[in-house]
Amino acid sequence: MVDEWDKVAHIEEIDEGGTLAAEVEDTEVCLYKVEGKVFATTNKCSHGEASLADGMIVDDFLIECPLHEGTFDIRTGAAVGAPCKAAIRCFDVQVKEGVIYLRREPVN
Ligand code: FES
Repeated sequence: MVDEWDKVAHIEEIDEGGTLAAEVEDTEVCLYKVEGKVFATTNKCSHGEASLADGMIVDDFLIECPLHEGTFDIRTGAAVGAPCKAAIRCFDVQVKEGVIYLRREPVN
């Protein structure tokens, strides 16, 4: 597997505790910044047609879907709150000189 990273955004584009939609290899992703650290998952909720970038971070590392309020752990992609059952995919993140890079291949 080729270890490729794509530049997706600048760290200053995401507020602390906020989200940002971006794209890696034609996949829409959602970036999160919590405690100064950046996380990335697919942007589409596994329960329906909702953009997680329109949701809210709750309880530090959980993203709440804006449509039915299901939640996912942004560190692992695990579905932790109903009605979500299926995990979402996560991406490795690197920040170099303020630029955010995602590895093209999801972690899970
Ligand atoms: S679409 Fe996300 S919880 Fe239903």
